[in-house]
Amino acid sequence: MDELKKAAARAAVERIADGSVVGLGTGTTLAYVLQELGAKAQRGDMRITGVATSYQARFLAKEYGIPVCDPMDVNFVDIAIDGADEVDPQGRVIKGAGAAHVTEKLVAALAKRFIVVVDESKLVERLGERCPVPIEAIAPALAFVQKRIREMGGDPVIRTGKGKIGPVISDLGNPILDARFDRIDDPAALSQRLDSIPGLVGHGLFIGMADQAIVARPPEEQPVVEVLEFRRG
Ligand code: A5P
Repeated sequence: MDELKKAAARAAVERIADGSVVGLGTGTTLAYVLQELGAKAQRGDMRITGVATSYQARFLAKEYGIPVCDPMDVNFVDIAIDGADEVDPQGRVIKGAGAAHVTEKLVAALAKRFIVVVDESKLVERLGERCPVPIEAIAPALAFVQKRIREMGGDPVIRTGKGKIGPVISDLGNPILDARFDRIDDPAALSQRLDSIPGLVGHGLFIGMADQAIVARPPEEQPVVEVLEFRRG
């Protein structure tokens, strides 16, 4: 699996032009993107400014010598690269297994191009097939948000930490819910309904945001990289 992630990461980095402002996503695949970008930066082959979507992205960028700033420091991003948990045939995406989806969505929205990098295990026919929808909510609204999601047919569970007792708290300081839905027939409608819940900070449905998915397929020894094009908006 790692070889597939590395192959997708290399293909993504090839699409970054020298001098770009680059959205740096979060996750294990993005760690390879950052490693590759760092190697290019060290060789002097590429000067970019990274925009971090999480502490992970910021810390790795610093470790690899990539200049990095916050979304608040930029008015636009040339290209944002990020992983995904599920990608459907229309390029709709579920993100947030790493609890960074709120800032990831902001950086994707700031970006002129948003590219997701995945191995083929992330491709699904229907969103929600395998993954729950991650939801970030302010703590005082948690019970209310759970009630509203149940009314929508979801089953929201508070995400608990590994290496920490109690709830996962995001980089932004909020708890995370994972909401399973039996069947998501209309991801755009669900996205809008979730967005309308008071106290809900953000959710992991990315609808009409991705321009491309770079997909790496087996064999591990010689991955095949395919680029899927989507219509944004
Ligand atoms: C972070 O919150 C997520 O959106 C990740 O981008 C997503 O889970 C993909 O991560 P991996 O590349 O580790 O699968």
